[in-house]
Amino acid sequence: MADFREGTMGVGIAGAGGRMGRMLIQAVLGTPGLTLSVGSVRPGSNLAGRDLGLLAGLEPSSSFADSDPAALFSRSDVVIDFTNPSSTRTHLDLAQRHGVGLVIGTTGLSDGDQAAVNAAGRSIAIVQAANMSLGVVLLQSLVQQVTATLGPDWDVEIVEMHHRHKVDAPSGTALALGRAAAAGRDVALADVRQSVRDGHTGPRPPGQIGFATLRGGDVVGEHTVIVAGVGERLELTHRATDRGIFARGAVRAAAWLKDRPPGLYGMTDVLGLA
Ligand SMILES: NC(=O)c1ccc[n+]([C@@H]2O[C@H](COP(=O)([O-])OP(=O)(O)OC[C@H]3O[C@@H](n4cnc5c(N)ncnc54)[C@H](OP(=O)(O)O)[C@@H]3O)[C@@H](O)[C@H]2O)c1
Repeated sequence: MADFREGTMGVGIAGAGGRMGRMLIQAVLGTPGLTLSVGSVRPGSNLAGRDLGLLAGLEPSSSFADSDPAALFSRSDVVIDFTNPSSTRTHLDLAQRHGVGLVIGTTGLSDGDQAAVNAAGRSIAIVQAANMSLGVVLLQSLVQQVTATLGPDWDVEIVEMHHRHKVDAPSGTALALGRAAAAGRDVALADVRQSVRDGHTGPRPPGQIGFATLRGGDVVGEHTVIVAGVGERLELTHRATDRGIFARGAVRAAAWLKDRPPGLYGMTDVLGLA
């Protein structure tokens, strides 16, 4: 399969030219035992052929950007994908064809995309998480514990803010926190989710889990889960100030995937918290 150095694990990066792609290049190059195999860029991109180290603002790495996604999978043990939903679908097919493990950080997947990820987990090993940071993984389990303890008399609202370039809303992390809050109450998020309020909405129905989305500037990612009772409220906040936390989590997940049996795993598995 791969043409990377013997004894190391070859990690490919899909979307190497993106905000996360460049952070991932830095994280892979900084991790002993991992070799950066290939970084993919969109067909026709003027980044094709560029040295990946230079692309990420580092020394030359002797690994290069390639616009052929098949090269990414034929030369890697594991591929990390932070791109967009349609590219992730393509990468999912290639990963299955080549028997390559996949770390999926892309958010905004449709129900159909997610069903394809679930199905692929029967034939290859996948780690998928809307947020690869340790803090958010812990926040999810705290939120579940809080809503299980406090019950439906307490109103749950989730507020998130991201940079102006983000294209999906609410964020994948906000939805994951919503699923954790719903799980604490033993309900499905889809049955209680309220993502938009505008005009004469009437009073808040009990049991609802509400979302509010803010976009602006260069905010890396902020999430607050508010659990509001009568006379008191809890606010649990995570603030990401550096995209490196997501990249380091994704690279840790890639290393963890080596020789893992097929399955769809989350960061709680990677961190041994499952
Ligand atoms: N799970 C987590 O912890 C986490 C953390 C941060 C972000 N994310 C998610 O990760 C995704 C990417 O975020 P970002 O901020 O890095 O976005 P971004 O800066 O837009 O990067 C996406 C990159 O993917 C490239 N791309 C698109 N289609 C491609 C294809 N077919 N082949 C190769 N490259 C392709 C884009 O190239 P072009 O510019 O040429 O289109 C772009 O360079 C989003 O879904 C975001 O929500 C997840």
